[in-house]
Amino acid sequence: ITNGLGMTPPMGWNSWNHFHCDINEKMIKATADGLVSSGLAKLGYVYVNIDDCWAEKTRDCKGNLRPKKSTFPSGIKAVADYVHSKGLKLGIYSDAGYYTCSKTQPGSLGYEEQDAQTFASWDIDYLKYDNCFNDGSRPTVRYPVMTRALMKTGRPIYISLCEWGDLHPAEWGFNVGNSWRTTNDISDTWESMISKADENEVYAHLARPGGWNDPDMLEVGNGGMTENEYVVHFSLWAISKSPLLLGFDVANATATRAVAHIVGNEEVIRINQDPLGVQAKKVRMMGSREIWAGPISGYRFVVMLLNRADTGDEDTVTAYWDDVGIPAKSLVEVRDVWEHKTLGRAVAGNISATMPPRSCKLYILKPVG
Ligand code: DGJ
Repeated sequence: ITNGLGMTPPMGWNSWNHFHCDINEKMIKATADGLVSSGLAKLGYVYVNIDDCWAEKTRDCKGNLRPKKSTFPSGIKAVADYVHSKGLKLGIYSDAGYYTCSKTQPGSLGYEEQDAQTFASWDIDYLKYDNCFNDGSRPTVRYPVMTRALMKTGRPIYISLCEWGDLHPAEWGFNVGNSWRTTNDISDTWESMISKADENEVYAHLARPGGWNDPDMLEVGNGGMTENEYVVHFSLWAISKSPLLLGFDVANATATRAVAHIVGNEEVIRINQDPLGVQAKKVRMMGSREIWAGPISGYRFVVMLLNRADTGDEDTVTAYWDDVGIPAKSLVEVRDVWEHKTLGRAVAGNISATMPPRSCKLYILKPVG
């Protein structure tokens, strides 16, 4: 939507992938601290997003949502103030149904105006809006009610639709939110991650500044994948112009250090945040070898060579300029954004790499001369 937000994909952190319902105000604040002290905030990771399980099970006598006393004793406004004092933004979560998915707190269905006012009064900057326990009506009926209510508050609030892709939100989401889930929940495995990227890719042509496809939050740092697999994960999310919402324990400095070279790779982040806002697509598939590519600003192109075989020997993957949309005879400057190296001389025709299973190369191509 045109609320001025999401001109590039949102970056930050969300509590769900690592902590599920085990959240409280102390760890949310510690996460904000972690984003700043690690330098990740400076790289653009500014949203600190509280997911499900932050509220009491029932509303107060006036129908207001209430922060859970035992875990958020200071209230959400105090957390927002803290997060804002660090130069970051606070996100919260609700549901277009009677309960949220955890069933531990009420949903916003029928309370959209009241809840939107509550969120605005707490200085919330981002709402993730889930789809559990709804009344069976279409999301295209339920979601816009919250969108209008949020717009009416006058506070700029990023709207993240979490309908899981069932009724093709990529096709209607641009008028309702700043991003929309295209998949059900990711888990911390290669199979899950790569299938989300595939499902999300189908809608590439519908992503643009102000409205992004969302294949779910990052699992980098949660321990279920290998180094190479996490590099593929982060590369795919970056070139797919997906929200970059960290899902590991950012309050843990050791955990953060261990993945800083992946999620803190500025060249890869810059691809995700490129002002052109075009989602890369699969431009060639040859069994387990794939080429994903798309344009970025400055007449440049991003190209990913992917060996998605599960096992076996190293394999060579080749992308031709034709695949990428560059005239075949062009000389091209090639930048390897994981190696942080520009190839010594301009390259003619194609670029090849030999890679083990479940790994990738990510290049920026710049036609020269
Ligand atoms: C389902 C969503 O897809 C998840 O990302 C998470 O928000 C959970 N619900 C919370 O219950």
